[in-house]
Amino acid sequence: MKTTISEVNKYVGQVVTIGAWLANKRSSGKIAFLQLRDGTGFIQGVVVKAEVEEEVFQLAKSITQESSLYVTGVVQEDERSPFGFELSVTNVEVIHESVNYPITPKEHGTEFLMDHRHLWLRSKRQHAVMKIRNEIIRATYEFFNDNGFSKVDPPILTGSAPEGTTELFATKYFDEDAYLSQSGQLYMEAAAMALGKVFSFGPTFRAEKSKTRRHLIEFWMIEPEMAFHDFEDNLVVQENYVSYIIQAVLKNCNLELTTLGRDTSKLEKIKAPFPRISYDDAIKFLHENGFNDIQWGDDFGAPHETAIAESYDMPVFITHYPTKIKPFYMQPAKDRSDVVLCADMIAPEGYGEIIGGSERIHDFELLKARLEEHGLTSDAYKWYLELRQYGSVPHSGFGLGLERTVAWLSGVEHVRESIPFPRLLNRLYP
Ligand code: 4AD
Ligand code: MG
Repeated sequence: MKTTISEVNKYVGQVVTIGAWLANKRSSGKIAFLQLRDGTGFIQGVVVKAEVEEEVFQLAKSITQESSLYVTGVVQEDERSPFGFELSVTNVEVIHESVNYPITPKEHGTEFLMDHRHLWLRSKRQHAVMKIRNEIIRATYEFFNDNGFSKVDPPILTGSAPEGTTELFATKYFDEDAYLSQSGQLYMEAAAMALGKVFSFGPTFRAEKSKTRRHLIEFWMIEPEMAFHDFEDNLVVQENYVSYIIQAVLKNCNLELTTLGRDTSKLEKIKAPFPRISYDDAIKFLHENGFNDIQWGDDFGAPHETAIAESYDMPVFITHYPTKIKPFYMQPAKDRSDVVLCADMIAPEGYGEIIGGSERIHDFELLKARLEEHGLTSDAYKWYLELRQYGSVPHSGFGLGLERTVAWLSGVEHVRESIPFPRLLNRLYP
């Protein structure tokens, strides 16, 4: 019976054949332990000299790392392995021999591993992170579909810059100037006026000269946008969504979290509602805790965010930032125009801002004035302003950065491990 590692539980006591690669191997004169992987999982194959043909045992002992194989054997339950099963191997057939695989079980430096990302993805840790990423994506579609949202795909090539003009990837669009999308938000606002509750999920680009554990040049963002939702409604969707993906990962990625050595007790505690702190109070808190480098009106740096997040064991919303440090489209607070109805969600454990969101300006004159203040007077924003001329309604939305969320839930230090092929400041290879 041909099967996969993830399905062996259905064949306990039976003979199966699995197409696999040799991840690692240990052997002595009498027994060989083959660490096998097939993409669906990892399993140990045990080859006992006394129980197989001599040539099978000799072959098992000589197989090189990452050679591709068909392995036949009997599925055994095995309580000692975290996976719960192993294979008593009866036959091995080599499909292709791998010679001098560069990533050996010894330690390698980060740059070396990044240069071999196309191969590094095969390792057990990277496999676990990609499975968690996949689960977050799956649960995202499930959450928004179950809650009445429609997926809408905004364009990647655009003429507008929602998040400021300094971090744009410019390109030529025949005779016009175009940019790679920083955010689909403006288009999602148009979509929300057509479909009510919408979400997008796609790649976004920031030509940001930041070299930190939280910054990628190309990253994936989930951007919901909701008509008739105010600032407070927006926060409720965000905390429910983030709670939902955490529960999904805890439920469906047990093995991967174990592989990564993730302390899941920190994730298990997280349930909506999440705490909220205003920007004003956050500044006070920072001053009380010895951060004298920051003044009202400054944006937070990573150490500030981490200090604030550390006083909660849940993600925290920092709300009502100063108008002057946020994008043009945010709705000012009712009683004061120096702050906007926005919130950043800061993840615990130093992972920083995972969501940025706000209520949007729905008044035509106000939006027009704000665009002018920001020097965004080109025709590229004409259609966006028009949304405020034909049945404008209060609406809100947010963007969740997928890679920061994957890094947080997986417990990996750097976002470069949370995307298959990271685009970083100095890296376009592989
Ligand atoms: O806070 P940002 O810039 O918000 C927006 O783009 C809004 N237009 C979203 C919206 O309201 N529809 O980005 C949102 C999130 C951040 O909180 C962060 O998680 C992630 O996107 N992000 C990055 N992730 C990795 N590398 C970068 N360079 C990132 N920049 C933002
Ligand atoms: Mg932000």
